[in-house]
Amino acid sequence: MSAIEHEALAPEPVAHEAHEGPGIHSANFRFPNGFLWGGATSSHQVEGHNTNSDWWAWEQSGRVAEPSGAAADHYNRFRHDFDLAQQLGHTAQRFSLEWSRIETSEGVWSREGLEHYSQVIDALRERGMEPVVTVFHYTLPQWLADKGGLEHPEFERYFERFTARVAAEYGTRVRWWITFNEPVVQAFKGWILGQWPPGKMNDFAAALRVMRTMLRSHVKAYHALHAARPDAMVSVAKHALALSPCNPKSRLDRLSVRVREYLFNNLFLDALHTGALRVPGLFWERLPQAQTLDYIGLNYYTRDFVKNTGFSLPGLLGNLCTLEHHGSIGKRNELGWEIYPEGMAHFLKSYRRYGKPILITENGLPTNRDDDRWTFLFLHLWQVARAIDEGVPIVGYLHWSLLDNYEWADGFKARFGLIGVDYATQERTVRDSARKLADVILRNEL
Ligand code: FCB
Repeated sequence: MSAIEHEALAPEPVAHEAHEGPGIHSANFRFPNGFLWGGATSSHQVEGHNTNSDWWAWEQSGRVAEPSGAAADHYNRFRHDFDLAQQLGHTAQRFSLEWSRIETSEGVWSREGLEHYSQVIDALRERGMEPVVTVFHYTLPQWLADKGGLEHPEFERYFERFTARVAAEYGTRVRWWITFNEPVVQAFKGWILGQWPPGKMNDFAAALRVMRTMLRSHVKAYHALHAARPDAMVSVAKHALALSPCNPKSRLDRLSVRVREYLFNNLFLDALHTGALRVPGLFWERLPQAQTLDYIGLNYYTRDFVKNTGFSLPGLLGNLCTLEHHGSIGKRNELGWEIYPEGMAHFLKSYRRYGKPILITENGLPTNRDDDRWTFLFLHLWQVARAIDEGVPIVGYLHWSLLDNYEWADGFKARFGLIGVDYATQERTVRDSARKLADVILRNEL
């Protein structure tokens, strides 16, 4: 029952008594039993020395703030990191498989690579944490990148084969799977903005082809995962970006918001849900199958303001406005992203339409002020709790990130960790925000 309904239905005397009785002091938001609480990471951002991937090569070519190097050395320190997570009461942990460590060259499967993630999964299970495994978090093995990567006509087959292999290895111990992390972000950064590999700019046709490839690959991977584990829970981690018009009075800005809203936030999930890829006015195609989401994985961080720049596709997408002339925008984080907790509620309610459980697979703040992290966490959890209260079926919250890590083109300056990392010594420090979150987890209420 929602808070509003509750108020409307409560008879006056009960409300009055509640003020005097003890109940009012414990009127906190409760999270559902079995709620998954934990952190998230990705292989390339924490492991260190992932030398066999396209991202490593990209870093060496000097197109980013700094190279990833040893990162947080999580490849060697994962047990210690999971000890800390366990002490913080975490009941789940999201991590990704590094394809370039597992299939080191085409069709060559590394026992060491496979064994590593087997140990990671066991280490989580031994500590009572549910593994949530991402098959692909942006990084490609170099051999596949050399062939054209996501643009290779056989990518779907390679991805399906890789997924089938890891499903066979880990399926009995892993129920929660994510095929692709933020597919639309990857297409946008890699083929339109040119900031990430393969560094193409304004190649809208290729970006669309890549999204189509990821959709089709997901459908195939969905089957591979369910073949290995019939009760598998399979989804993608969908980045949802709250959007507002730069000038709310401008019809064109509002139109650009709608275009972005559809292309960024809805197209991918809609396609997997309905089984049809639709780009209105441009493209329509059936996928091999509909209904290949067992839950919705939601990554939520921020809001953008959009300014229309014309009627071509780039014009309709518009530009991001600098925000400077927006008196009403909230605080911004150290990467310049606005802190906008209302967006979390918006997407939880909006994605409810798929009729599936929702797992928050990422949410977090880059900051050197840990107080701000806790405020951010509290404000976002508040939105989560209210959505639960309104009946949205949310099954867990995984914070980005468990550890400070390598933030892609931005390098190491962005501190996202519940646990801080001193990169000179690899020493870990549990932050206060992590302890405050631990208290919420322990009580399972806010
Ligand atoms: C998300 C990515 C993740 C991390 C966070 C800050 O978009 O999935 O790898 O970089 O942002």
